[in-house]
Amino acid sequence: MKKLLITGGAGFIGSHVVRRFVKQYPHYHIYNLDALTYAGNLENIADIEHESNYTFVKGDIRDAEFINNLFSQNDFVGVIHLAAESHVDRSITNPMDFITTNIIGTVNLLNAARESWKGSFDGRRFYHVSTDEVYGSLGSEGFFVETTAYDPQSPYSASKASSDHLVRAYGNTYKLPVVISNCSNNYGPNQFPEKLLPLAINNIVNKRPIPIYGKGENIRDWLYVEDHASAIDTIFHNASLGETYNIGGHNELQNIELIRMLCNLMDEKLGRANGESAKLITFVTDRAGHDLRYAIDASKIAKDLGWKPSLQFPEGLRKTVDWYLSHSEWIQNILSGDYEKYYQKQYQGR
Ligand code: NAD
Ligand code: DAU
Repeated sequence: MKKLLITGGAGFIGSHVVRRFVKQYPHYHIYNLDALTYAGNLENIADIEHESNYTFVKGDIRDAEFINNLFSQNDFVGVIHLAAESHVDRSITNPMDFITTNIIGTVNLLNAARESWKGSFDGRRFYHVSTDEVYGSLGSEGFFVETTAYDPQSPYSASKASSDHLVRAYGNTYKLPVVISNCSNNYGPNQFPEKLLPLAINNIVNKRPIPIYGKGENIRDWLYVEDHASAIDTIFHNASLGETYNIGGHNELQNIELIRMLCNLMDEKLGRANGESAKLITFVTDRAGHDLRYAIDASKIAKDLGWKPSLQFPEGLRKTVDWYLSHSEWIQNILSGDYEKYYQKQYQGR
């Protein structure tokens, strides 16, 4: 079996990528490397943890010695690198975690792949999963294309931009077989409840205020997480080496529009009077340096690789809300820290 390393597979997007690869590709053995930071949760992938082509490895990409040993003990045919500090607000209060994980951690993986694969890059692939935030902020017009100049505005996006540059530099300088994708905002099951949608769903359920930064006029381009996982699969298997692909959902919404849609749906699902959840909307102090608009032109991946998102936003939002409402214990466990106990129980003595 071919060994494939996926980093960050206990997080939101990574768990959907790991599940997809474990289920669809029995000829790969998937190694899921994750440090289980506050954002990593083994409950996200509990359904596949006993599959014979799956191994969980607890480890930190900041630890170069550990990463080098992992690569010297395993002949990985590829790496799909998702592990990162991912929350913009946390990057504003604590940038250093973003510098060490997103930049140094990525370089540790690049160095280990280069050393382990030296002399034989045939059939190998280092796939770096990145964000549209590296391009900065758009005005009311235009879209991000793959050649848009980088202009990151937050410590998070600057750390991701830096990692993208390093991945390209290793491709150019050492001929490491790299590919990169830059994706728009994901939503769906298993997203940590610090991000806008799950935070709002949880607050609506508990009749707590929904904090909207500024006037809620900022625009994001929303993509259902399983569609991102399918794009990652397509790119990993079919992209030419050295390529970059933008991935987006063609679903631009102002935050306030999105939250109003959510409130209406939550009223319906919770059997509340129409308009009740919207009363919870509360405008709060804006995020520092808040990017106004992200919008992806995803025509290159459509044209070159035939990928398109499968879900439109209203359907994806329904699926998302249904998942959170039927998994209230998932949020409760996170909020109470119980998923740490879950880890201890599942992996004690392994
Ligand atoms: P997440 O925060 O939900 O998950 C990140 C995972 O990485 C967690 O499981 C965490 O434990 C792990 N991790 C963090 N630091 C680590 C370290 N030092 N060593 C090993 N593991 C570590 O993030 P997400 O939203 O799933 O994002 C995954 C990737 O996709 C990130 O690289 C992010 O930049 C990118 N991305 C996210 C979005 C989005 O909308 N969420 C959009 C585009 C790109
Ligand atoms: O564009 C891709 C990026 O999308 C990813 O690279 C990031 O990892 C991911 O976190 C996401 O970044 P955003 O900053 O866009 O996501 P967040 O959910 O934090 O915020 C979405 C929008 O909602 C943003 O304009 C800020 C606003 N917001 C967010 C929160 C948490 C609020 O108005 N209130 C909130 O409480």
